[in-house]
Amino acid sequence: MRVDKRAIGVFDSGIGGLTAMRELAAFLPHEDIVYFGDTGRVHYGTRSRETIVKYARQDARFLCSFDLKLLLIACGTASYAALETLQQELPIPVFGVVEGASRRAAELTRVGRVAVLATPATISGHVFGNFLNTISPGITVLEKACPLFVPIVENGRFQPEDPLVRILTEEYLAPVREAGVDTIILGCTHYPLLAEAISRCVPGAALVNSGAEAAKTVAESLRKTCLAAPETHVGTRRYFVSDSVAQFRQNAGMYLRHPLDGSVEWVDIEKYE
Ligand code: DGL
Repeated sequence: MRVDKRAIGVFDSGIGGLTAMRELAAFLPHEDIVYFGDTGRVHYGTRSRETIVKYARQDARFLCSFDLKLLLIACGTASYAALETLQQELPIPVFGVVEGASRRAAELTRVGRVAVLATPATISGHVFGNFLNTISPGITVLEKACPLFVPIVENGRFQPEDPLVRILTEEYLAPVREAGVDTIILGCTHYPLLAEAISRCVPGAALVNSGAEAAKTVAESLRKTCLAAPETHVGTRRYFVSDSVAQFRQNAGMYLRHPLDGSVEWVDIEKYE
C-alpha cells in the first residue's frame, strides 16, 4: 500500500475552524496537520468577496510553504468565496465545507426542507442552496444569515440557558421552525458551539456540522487516493496565527473541546502575496 507523509493544511479566518480541526484530527490520528487561523484579520463573514479571496489566497500561500498533500478550508465564508479559485490555482486537492454538509443534509431530510445558517457573506453567495438544488432539486432551502452568532460565541456566550443566546436563537430560528424544516446545516465553523441552543429552538431537527462533514470527506479522499500517512506515525499538530499567540492559546480549548495539542506560532501573513 502507498503512503504519503506530507502534511494536511487547514485554514480558517480565525479560531472557529478548530471545530473542524478537532474532527479532522480525530479521524486522522496519523496525519501531520498544520492549521493557520487568520486571527489578525478576522472576521471574514462581513467582508466583500474580493477581500475574502485575497486573504484566502495569502492563507493558502503560507500553508503551501509546508510540503502539503491536501488543503482544507475550515471556514464557511472562505469556502463560499475562494474554494473554486484555490482549486484552480493550487497543485493539490482543496476541500471546503459546503459539499459534504449539503450531501449529508440531502440524505437526512425527510420532509425536503433544509435550513442553512451561516455568516452574511456566505448566505449572500447562496453556495449551500445552489449545491443542494443541484444534487437534489426537490429540496426547499431556507438560507438564514446569523451575523451575531460569531461574536457571542467568541465572547463565551453559547450556553442554551444564557438569555442573550435565547433571544438570538429565537430571532434567527423562529422562521426556520415555522417553515417546518427538519434539517439544519451549521454553515459556519463557530456554530457547533451553539448546537444545543439551536436544537432547543427547533426541536427534532437534525443538525449537520459542516466542518465535521468536511473532515469526513477529507479522510475518505485520503483513503481512496492512497495518500494516507503510515499507521505507525503519530500525527503532529502545529498552529499558526496572525495575531496574539497568547489569546489563541487561551481560547483554543473552547473550540477543540480538549487542551491545545501542539505548538502555536505567529506569522506575518501579509508577506504571502
Ligand atoms: N470562520 C467563519 C465561517 O466559518 C466565521 C467567522 C468569520 O466571520 O470570519 O464562516
